[in-house]
Amino acid sequence: MRFIIMDTPKEIGETIAKDFEELLKKKPDAIFGLATGSTPLPLYAALIEDYKAGKISFKDAKSFNLDEYVNAPKEEDTYRYFMKTNLFEHVDFKEGANHFPSFENMKTYDKSIDEAGGIDLQILGIGRDGHVGFNEPDTPFDSLTHLAELTENTREANARFFKGGEETPHEAITMGLKTIYKARHIILIASDLTKVDAIRSLKKGVKDLAWPCTSLLTHPNVDIYLTKELFAAI
Ligand code: F6R
Repeated sequence: MRFIIMDTPKEIGETIAKDFEELLKKKPDAIFGLATGSTPLPLYAALIEDYKAGKISFKDAKSFNLDEYVNAPKEEDTYRYFMKTNLFEHVDFKEGANHFPSFENMKTYDKSIDEAGGIDLQILGIGRDGHVGFNEPDTPFDSLTHLAELTENTREANARFFKGGEETPHEAITMGLKTIYKARHIILIASDLTKVDAIRSLKKGVKDLAWPCTSLLTHPNVDIYLTKELFAAI
């Protein structure tokens, strides 16, 4: 596990966009695992810039998103909509190349990822409680894509995206910890101070069900990008 410290979230986004560029050069039909939330937004902005500058193309690539809410109040609240407006509609993925877990496909989502060739590069944010995807504390490390109940802590953190907070969904379908672990290269980004305890659990280096992110500790190819502000607080 490599810790990489940078000045700003923008610099982190631009640096990871270079990994996308390199991978797409070597493998135009690469498979990406993508995350939603505030953290990857500078990365998606950098990818859009690179696409517009002719540096990258997603025309032969595919993506599998980490998670999706169950019963989001409106279409605009879904992660599919988030990805559409923050990345997909600005770049050239082909129709049908972007996949999301759902109630209907959750039992076959892992198989679909495997059949597509497996995830080459998985992007992750991290929850205050160390969740990755919506794998909350005590999720088994060998879990595959499943229905997850969101903790109150996570609902509170995500209430900012929903009117008044009371409409924040209680459940989501998420890739499991094993689904994530199977990716060939994992990049986890943390850029705000609410993530201090979660990153501490990684620095400690002990696998612990109470901190789902620690399932990544034995993975051979994980990069953790932190802002220097967050690193200083650990
Ligand atoms: C999103 C996801 C979540 C978020 C995490 C951090 O697809 O799987 O694990 O990455 O909740 O969210 P932000 O980036 O909004 O702090």
